[in-house]
Amino acid sequence: MPVDLILSNAKIYSRKGIIEASIAIDESRIFKIAKETNLPTASGKLDLKGLLVLPGLIDSHVHLRDQQLAHKESFFSGTAAAAAGGVTTVIDMPNNKPVTMSSKSLQERMEIAQRQTVVNVGFYSAFPQNLSEIHSIVEDGAVAFKLYLSQKIGGVNIEDDEALLQAFDKVSETKVPVGVHAEDRETIEKGKRELLKAKRRDVEAHLEARSHEAERKAIQRTVHLAQRTSAHVHLCHLSTAAGLRDVLQAKRDGLSITCEVTPHHLFLSSKHLKQLKTLALVNPPLRTRRDNRALWDALRRGRVDAVSTDHAPHMIEEKKTDSVWDVKPGIPGLETMLPLLLTRVNEGHLSLSILARATSERPAKIFNLKDRGNLVEGNHADLVAIDMKQEYKIDSSRFHSKAKYSPFDGWRVKGKPVKTFVDGNLVMDEGEIVAEPGTGQIIRRPESS
Ligand code: NCD
Ligand code: ZN
Ligand code: ZN
Ligand code: ZN
Repeated sequence: MPVDLILSNAKIYSRKGIIEASIAIDESRIFKIAKETNLPTASGKLDLKGLLVLPGLIDSHVHLRDQQLAHKESFFSGTAAAAAGGVTTVIDMPNNKPVTMSSKSLQERMEIAQRQTVVNVGFYSAFPQNLSEIHSIVEDGAVAFKLYLSQKIGGVNIEDDEALLQAFDKVSETKVPVGVHAEDRETIEKGKRELLKAKRRDVEAHLEARSHEAERKAIQRTVHLAQRTSAHVHLCHLSTAAGLRDVLQAKRDGLSITCEVTPHHLFLSSKHLKQLKTLALVNPPLRTRRDNRALWDALRRGRVDAVSTDHAPHMIEEKKTDSVWDVKPGIPGLETMLPLLLTRVNEGHLSLSILARATSERPAKIFNLKDRGNLVEGNHADLVAIDMKQEYKIDSSRFHSKAKYSPFDGWRVKGKPVKTFVDGNLVMDEGEIVAEPGTGQIIRRPESS
């Protein structure tokens, strides 16, 4: 029996280095990686002409919106953006309308997503009001829970450490991680009150309210919670050197903690905020060059577990209002993350192994995505073919995301994802989406294959 597909003439990234070989794919999985002469016959064949093949990116922080926020992004537009950016699996955040925080809301979301997605999608849930529902939410397939310390989203009072601990403990029984948005609500509110009194409404005011201290305080609180529970804690979008230092210390102390950084906190500082104004407004905000450097340094040393986009699309009108307090925070990132990181690889500032580890291997481990995250035989055939030599300018007007703007618009990059495969299906080819909506899988925990 011939296998389904052979991708020939590839430079395949593996943990042992880059191997020149071909990939046989059968029934949506990697059947064998070898010289073509050692592969079985196939029904289909595609010559990759020397393209680099990486494990498809797993982006563990994406706001796909849809439902009542579909005007900002839909499951189709968001996953098309993912495919265009070489991302084969996204994990969707729960701050939706309605909030994902019950079996019912999760099931509704999965049902809509199932018909629309072109890449794989897993789901975060917020804590439910009734903590006994945590088990059924996981049985229904949530891969993680999300806690926002900056505002109440979900059913638990975020001022109450004991209530939070009860939620963490319940979640620990299910073995899924808890993702935390670490910015301290009280610190932000206090800062905001003072700035409002001073009639500040400029973009720097946002930065001042959401200070370094606001992140640090919430991280320290999270670490204390992590010390008192056996739940795995995943810190989202770290932005400050001091916050990062506390997290790395907690990891050295042996706590079950992991962390992620975003491309915008790596590549952009408050200097960019000055130029780009509210377009670059995001939570946590862009920080100093010093913070950028600390994040890069930790990433290069392999101490940052994941690079995730925090793809947070809004309508362009929502990004440009007179008062900074009315601007919707968030940056679309799915179509720029991989080209930006590949540019650093081309410049010799980042190794491919760190890139693959932080954008695929570690996220698969943290979120327990079975048989994904590595190009090895038996794993799902989620992969991205890359032209490392292609140089081009980022053009946000051509994004597949509904959010057609970017702080990286016009940046020159080198290294382009040109083909994306999800479970063995070609979903993106030379920037075009070539798969039917519904091609992507809904990833449930524990994953049914
Ligand atoms: C996110 C959003 O728009 O949903 N915005 C943001 O600035 N990052 C929310 C979040 O991730 O905190
Ligand atoms: Zn957040
Ligand atoms: Zn987010
Ligand atoms: Zn499968």
